[in-house]
Amino acid sequence: MPRECAQCPPRRKLNYNSQHAAGALRPARVNRGRSLESPAAPIQPRKIGAGGPGTIPAMLRRLARAATPQQRVFWARRSGSLAEIPTYVVDLRSDTVTKPGPAMRRAMAEAVVGDDDYGEDPTVRDLQATAAELLGVERTLFVPTNTMANLISVMCHCRRRGSQLLLGRECHLHVYEQGGVAQIAGVHSHPLPDLPHGTLDLAELERLVTRGLGSPYHPVCELICLENTHSSSGGRVLPMEYLRQVHLLARRYGVRVHLDGARLMNAAVALGVPPARIVEHCDSVSLCFSKGLGAPVGALVGGPKDFIEEAWRLRKALGGGMRQAGVLAAAALVGLADAEEMLQRDHQNAQRFARGLQELASPVCSVDPAAVETNMVMVRVDGLPPEELCRRLQAMSADEVAQTGHAVRLLLFPWTEHSVRAVWHRDVSAQDTELALGKWAFVLRTLGLG
Ligand SMILES: Cc1ncc(COP(=O)(O)O)c(C=O)c1O
Repeated sequence: MPRECAQCPPRRKLNYNSQHAAGALRPARVNRGRSLESPAAPIQPRKIGAGGPGTIPAMLRRLARAATPQQRVFWARRSGSLAEIPTYVVDLRSDTVTKPGPAMRRAMAEAVVGDDDYGEDPTVRDLQATAAELLGVERTLFVPTNTMANLISVMCHCRRRGSQLLLGRECHLHVYEQGGVAQIAGVHSHPLPDLPHGTLDLAELERLVTRGLGSPYHPVCELICLENTHSSSGGRVLPMEYLRQVHLLARRYGVRVHLDGARLMNAAVALGVPPARIVEHCDSVSLCFSKGLGAPVGALVGGPKDFIEEAWRLRKALGGGMRQAGVLAAAALVGLADAEEMLQRDHQNAQRFARGLQELASPVCSVDPAAVETNMVMVRVDGLPPEELCRRLQAMSADEVAQTGHAVRLLLFPWTEHSVRAVWHRDVSAQDTELALGKWAFVLRTLGLG
C-alpha cells in the first residue's frame, strides 16, 4: 500500500540535510557577520523603505532573485574534498516538480489577459476551446488543480446526497484528496481492489452498481471513477477495451463515468491515439497541466455543455474562480503544444532506466520493463527498507566521486513497503537518466549486493 502521495511532500520527511546528504556538503550554517556566541542584538523596528537587510525593498530583491531560473544541474565549487567536483541533482520524485522553461515563462509574461470570472480572459478561453477540441468534448473549464477538477466532476454527477461512487482503492481521488467527495459533497465512496493494470473487476463493478437498484438499504450508485494513467500501479495505461466495457456497463444502469485524466496525455501518447479516443468512453474528464505538461498551475474539467455550466457554478462555490488566469493558461497552452514530443521522451527515458536497472541483475532492486508503459518505474526493493535505499541514493560521498568522477543526488520517494517509484518528466534528460543509473549501480555496489 502506498504510504505517501508521490506528488505531495512525504509525511515522514526524508532528511535531505542528513550528514550523508548533499546538505552536509554545504556550509553548516550561515554566519551573518555576528559571533554565534555573542548574545543576539535586540531587533529594532525599521522604517518602511529604509533599505538594508530585513527591510521590505531588500526582501523584494531577495524574492526577485529567487524567481530567476535556477540551474538544475550545477557545478559545485566548495572547499574540502569535494571542491571542483561536478555535482548533479536528478529529481525523480514526481512529474509535479518541473519548473517552467524559458518558452513557457515568456508565454506567461506576454499572455493577453482579462477577468476570467467575467469570462473575459482571451487566453483562458483559447485554452478551454483548444482543450475541448483535443479531448473531443463540448466544453472545458480551467480550474486551479486536478483535485478540484475531480471534486467538481463528482459533485456534478452525484446529485443525490449519500449517492455512491465506485472507484479503485488506491486511486488518487480516494487516497490523496482529503476525502473531499465525502467531506464536501456528501458522496459515499465504495473502493474496489485495483487489479495490476489499474483496472477494476468488471463483474464486481456490476454487482455493486446493481446492488442499490430498488433497494431501500444500499446507497444508489451514480458514478464510477477511473484513473488513466493509473498512478499507483506505476503509470499503467487502461486498455481501450476495458474503458469501452466500463462505459457500456455504466450506461446499462444509468450510471456515469468520470475519468481522472491527470496524466491522460501520457496514456494517449503511449497508446498512439488522440486523447479524444480515450475520452469518448467517459461522461467527464479531468486533465492536469502541472504534471508531465510542465505548467506551474492548472487543470481542467471537460464534458457536455450543461455539465460545464454546472461545473462553473461549483468552481465558484469552491473558491476556484480566477481573474487574470491567462498567465496560467498561457503556460498550459505551451505544455499542450509540445506534449507529444516531451512525453514520448519521458517514456523513452523511463524505459531506458528500467532496462538499465534490470541489466544490473541485483537481488536488492528488480524491475519489470514490460510494466513500464509511460513515465513511471516501480522498483521492487528487497533486503533493505525503501526509505534507506532512498537515503543512500540522495547522499553524496567522496567514495562516489572517487569511483564515478562526480556526485549525484538522486531524489525519490519510497512507495510501498517493498518499492520505490521513479517518475520521469521534462526536467530529466537522457543524460540525467544515465547519471541516475550510475548512482543506482554505485549504491548497490556499496551495499555489497550489486
Ligand atoms: C492521478 C492524479 N489525480 C489527481 C491529482 C491531483 O492533482 P493536483 O495536485 O493538481 O490537485 C494527482 C496529483 O498528483 C494525480 O496524480
